[in-house]
Amino acid sequence: MDKKYEIIKGFIQDQIRSGKIKAGGKLPSIREISNQFACSKNTAIRAYDELEKDHLIYSVPKSGYFAVLRSSTINHQPSGLIDFSSASPDPDVMPYEDFQHCLNRAIELYQDQLFSYSDPQGFFSLRMELEKHLARSQVFAKPEQICVVSGSQQALHLLTVMPFPNGKSTILVEQPTYYGMLRTINLLGVTAIGIRRTKDGIDLEELERHFRSNHIKFFYTVPRYHNPLGTSYNQEQKKQIARLAEKYDVYIVEDDYLADLEINPKADPIYSYDLSAHTIYVKSFSKVMLPGLRLAAAVLPRSLMETFRLFKASCDLSSPVLSQAALEIYLNCGMFYRHTAYMRERYRIRMEALRNACNHLLPPEIDVNVSEGGIFAQIILPDQIPAMDLTTALKQQNVLMMPTDLCFLQTFPKDNGIRISIIHTNEAQIESGIRLIGKATEKHLLHQKTPQTTSVIDWV
Ligand SMILES: Cc1ncc(COP(=O)(O)O)c(C=O)c1O
Repeated sequence: MDKKYEIIKGFIQDQIRSGKIKAGGKLPSIREISNQFACSKNTAIRAYDELEKDHLIYSVPKSGYFAVLRSSTINHQPSGLIDFSSASPDPDVMPYEDFQHCLNRAIELYQDQLFSYSDPQGFFSLRMELEKHLARSQVFAKPEQICVVSGSQQALHLLTVMPFPNGKSTILVEQPTYYGMLRTINLLGVTAIGIRRTKDGIDLEELERHFRSNHIKFFYTVPRYHNPLGTSYNQEQKKQIARLAEKYDVYIVEDDYLADLEINPKADPIYSYDLSAHTIYVKSFSKVMLPGLRLAAAVLPRSLMETFRLFKASCDLSSPVLSQAALEIYLNCGMFYRHTAYMRERYRIRMEALRNACNHLLPPEIDVNVSEGGIFAQIILPDQIPAMDLTTALKQQNVLMMPTDLCFLQTFPKDNGIRISIIHTNEAQIESGIRLIGKATEKHLLHQKTPQTTSVIDWV
C-alpha cells in the first residue's frame, strides 16, 4: 500500500501536470493538506520536502509553497511528422537528469564564482579538464591555449571578425558549407570564396592555387561528418591540408562539431597533423549535450590567443559560469563519456537504417552517400526535379527536409541537393520518409518520360 506522503506527492504532481496549479501558483497549505488527507502535519511536510528536492515546488518562509513549472513543457512533435530537417539534439536521448545533478552540484561547489565575472578564457579548472578531454581526440593543448566560448558559433564569429597575424583578409569556405558560417560572413561583410567539396573531398591542387594566390586569412572546414554533406575527409587529405597551410601561411579553422560521434578511432583531426601552429580547432558541446548551455572549446595557436581573448571579452565578458561549472563536473565524473557512447550507438543505428532505406527505396537517378556515423546525408537530385519543389511536395506529406542551396555562397554554382538529418527520427520513420521521397521522385521521373501538356506539379 502507498504511504500517505506518496499519495500527497502524487496528488500535487497531478495538479501541476494538469495545469490546475500553474507555474508560480500557490499550493494548499500544510494545514489544508493534513485535513484533506487525514494525516499529521509532519506527513504533509515530508511530501512537500520531497517535491522541493525534485525541484517541482519551492518554499517562501512565512508565505507557503509554490509550483516551479508545469512538468510537461516539452513540445513534442505532432504525430505522423517525419522531421529530416532539424539539427538540434533529440530530446529523447538527452541527459536531462544527469545534467540536473551536475547543475545542482555546480551551484553548491562554485558558489563564490557565481557572484562574480570570470576569466574571459573560461574557468582554469574547466580548461584543465578540457586538456584531458581533447587529448582523447589527439588534440594536445595546454589550458593556456584553450578558450571556452559560448558555442562554436561564437568562435566562428570572432575568428571571422578579428585580424590574423598573416595580415590576410579573405576567407575560403567549402561549398557547400555550414549555413551559420555563411550567414556570419555575409553579415560581417567579409570577402569569401568557395572551393567545391564533394563526397570524395576537395581538389587539393585547387586548394593550393587558392592558398598561393588569393590572400587567404583562413580556410574554414568541417572535416568530420560535414554539414550538410555528412561525409569526412580521409587522413591523407587532412595531412595535405595541414601541409599547405604551413607552406602558404594560411590558417585552418577546423570545426569539429561532431567529434564525439566519431566511430572510427583512427580519424584524427587536421590539428593533430599541424606542425606549424596554423590550426584553430573548434569543438562544440551542443550536439551531444544541451545546446542551450552554449558551450564550446576553441584551441588556438599562441600567436592568436591574446587577440581572440580581447574580442571574446568585448563580446560577452565570459561564457556563462553555471554552464562552465556543470560541464566541468559532467566531464570529470565520467557521465559525459557514458552518455556520448550511448548517443553514438543510437545515431549509428539510425544512419545504418538510412543507408539501407536509401539503397532499397530510392531510384538510381538519385545520388546519395551515407556515412557510417554522424547525423547528416545529402541526396543529389536529377536536374529535372528541383530540390525546393520536392521539399514543398514532401512537406504536404508531413516530411520535413532542408534544400542545401542555403549552404552555398551567392556566386557559387549550387547543387540540386537536400540535407537529410536523422537526429529527430527513429528507424521506422527513416524508412517511411525515404520511401515517400522515393515514390515522389519516381512518379516525377515517370511523368517526365511521357509528354506533358502543363507544367503544374501534380506529383505530390
Ligand atoms: C558545422 C556546425 N558548426 C557549428 C555549429 C554551431 O554549434 P554551437 O551550438 O556550438 O554554436 C553548428 C550547429 O548546428 C554546426 O552544424
